[in-house]
Amino acid sequence: MVSYKELGLVNTREMFAKAIKGGYAIPAFNFNNMEQLQAIIQAAAELKSPVILQVSKGARNYANQTLLRYMAQGAVEYAKELGWEHPQIVLHLDHGDSFELCKSCVDFGFSSVMIDGSALPYEENIALSKKVADYAHQYDVTVEAELGVLAGVEDEVSAEQSHYTRPEEVIDFSKRTGCDSLAISIGTSHGAYKFKPEQCTRDPKTGRLVPPPLAFGVLHEIEKRLPGFPIVLHGSSSVPQEYVDMINAHGGKLPDAVGIPEEQLREAAKSAVCKINIDSDSRLAMTATIRRIFDEQPGVFDPRKYLGPARDEMKKLYEHKIIDVLGSNGKAE
Ligand code: G3H
Ligand code: 13P
Ligand code: ZN
Repeated sequence: MVSYKELGLVNTREMFAKAIKGGYAIPAFNFNNMEQLQAIIQAAAELKSPVILQVSKGARNYANQTLLRYMAQGAVEYAKELGWEHPQIVLHLDHGDSFELCKSCVDFGFSSVMIDGSALPYEENIALSKKVADYAHQYDVTVEAELGVLAGVEDEVSAEQSHYTRPEEVIDFSKRTGCDSLAISIGTSHGAYKFKPEQCTRDPKTGRLVPPPLAFGVLHEIEKRLPGFPIVLHGSSSVPQEYVDMINAHGGKLPDAVGIPEEQLREAAKSAVCKINIDSDSRLAMTATIRRIFDEQPGVFDPRKYLGPARDEMKKLYEHKIIDVLGSNGKAE
């Protein structure tokens, strides 16, 4: 048993309480490799922003859970080296799909876990989420549960259609599970194709897709029923069109990729939404930079010559999110 406290990590409880009161949100960035982690920590340390490092099932399969955990432990020391005296870094399991997996993360030094029972029938979701919360709370590890189904693919859980969270269920769900935060479905979804063209209109000037707005009415209903309770938004990448264009200009093919407009995320961050999950935007920043370099400098074969600039671009992206979208800069001095 390794406690996250020994590793210098923190859970989400205090940072969420402050974020709700302060009208900002904490960035939850996924990481799969060293360059992403370096960019996240550099941005968070320079801006003194609390940050959540997320490990998904895909990341565990790709990089190995043990290695990722030690990397997060190293990240705490790296943050201090960068001059962040009291780093507020959470190591979070993203989309945990079983009690055993959540338990293994709690036992191994994660400070927060998500149990994603959103594809299960209501009562089964409650039973599983409660089992995880009961276990995790013994070690002061915080637990995110999910109610409502996001469109698209939730890791390997395929949801043909999204089902918005039903506000009338949230009190019962949060009370009976004992979860510390609740991921909800209000129209976001994972990946770089969040909306089908037929769900969007098209800007006549640019020809770009304009997505339908998020269901803020549902969010406000949920807030009313659970005042002060931390709400989480998954699938919150904006799919920056400059990256999509760069990818397409350098041999890629991402036609009509579209995300959540940042303006709407800014609005959400001011509400009880206090954790905003971003993964795809960092993938796009990395891919766009690497494609450009391969195209412009075909003789390059030292990975540092393309992974280094990709890391710098991701850092710029994380800084932009922290300052201009979530407003979490300076909240972990
Ligand atoms: O929630 C989905 C995240 O973007 C992680 O996806 O399992 O492909 O790493 P992944
Ligand atoms: P995006 O695919 O929009 O970046 O969402 C990431 C996410 O929700 C991770 O859990
Ligand atoms: Zn997610």
